[in-house]
Amino acid sequence: MRFHRVSVSLCLLFVYLADMAMGGRDFYKILGVSPGATVKEIKKAYRKLALQLHPDRNPDDPQAQDKFQDLGAAYEVLSDEEKRKQYDAYGEEGLKDGHQSSHGDVFSHFFGDFGFMFGGNPRQQDRNIPRGSDIVIDLEVTLEEVYSGNFVEVERNKPVARQAPGKRKCNCRQEMRTTQLGPGRFQMTQEVVCDECPNVKLINEQRTLEVEIEPGVRDGMEYPFIGEGEPHIDGEPGDLRFKIKVLKHPIFERRGDDLYTNVTISLVEALTGFEMHITHLDGHKVHIMRDKITKPGAKLWKKGEGLPNFDNNNIKGSLIITFDVDFPKEQLTEEEKKDIKQLLKQGSVQKVYNGLQGY
Ligand SMILES: *[C@@H]1O[C@H](CO)[C@@H](O)[C@H](O)[C@H]1NC(C)=O
Repeated sequence: MRFHRVSVSLCLLFVYLADMAMGGRDFYKILGVSPGATVKEIKKAYRKLALQLHPDRNPDDPQAQDKFQDLGAAYEVLSDEEKRKQYDAYGEEGLKDGHQSSHGDVFSHFFGDFGFMFGGNPRQQDRNIPRGSDIVIDLEVTLEEVYSGNFVEVERNKPVARQAPGKRKCNCRQEMRTTQLGPGRFQMTQEVVCDECPNVKLINEQRTLEVEIEPGVRDGMEYPFIGEGEPHIDGEPGDLRFKIKVLKHPIFERRGDDLYTNVTISLVEALTGFEMHITHLDGHKVHIMRDKITKPGAKLWKKGEGLPNFDNNNIKGSLIITFDVDFPKEQLTEEEKKDIKQLLKQGSVQKVYNGLQGY
């Protein structure tokens, strides 16, 4: 039994070595995408795995750090058109000259370049460290983006603190000093006491932030970028938060995961039935066919044609179509009136009722 296990692990070792010899790690496999994956698919896969594999979330896995770094390296290469080409042609070895894959960098940039919604887990804050203010920016998204998801790049120019020569006074505070002037006589003075810190200067740095608009995202949801807010010279920077603002749409109205739309049909269509297609937010066609009479105000529910649910994209809401009927504008001749009466064979109704109470 024991021998068996050893041989298995030896086997694995050989596979691993063989893998290495073939030019390093399989970045596509690490990200779980096909070699033909689009940039969007790669970003999506990365973001999903990064959330799963982040070492903070896997404190019991000794390999968490390595897995996370592999993921970061895979993303760094495959999300860059130039590096990806080189990798496709020569494997990881092909990247070594010129492009030094900077694993540590990926790790430190991780939170900076992607917004993460760690469910209700705000950064632990040390009350004693001063913090720059948080910045909240509205991020306008279209309903098309809410339906299909998207990645948005935001250029951010922000001042960052960099070390500069010299010293400066810092952590200044008021302190009380008591001096004894004589027996039973004291003098209390207040004075400012400071520490000496290395000098810093603020330098403008341009960063591209990547915000994923997740399918089904709701109005008012926030994507935090830790430490991307206002800097604080004596402490840490605040956070930058993108607040989702879903724009109005000319065709669809959102209510939760459901979409509402109105369709005007002709009186003839209302009476005789019709067939039509509604172009959905991603371009696919929703087929509508009726051969019954459609009354004005009638509603048609299309299950599964609403928006994807934010928590589970596989569940979709409904599309609710409300019909109104366009009556003919031309007056009818006596002859036509007679024909219609004959055709419809509908007697007089003329019921009087309180419609606001629904009787
Ligand atoms: C459109 O449909 C909604 C219900 O979905 C209805 O309340 C509204 O009155 C309709 N609008 C028009 C112009 O018919």
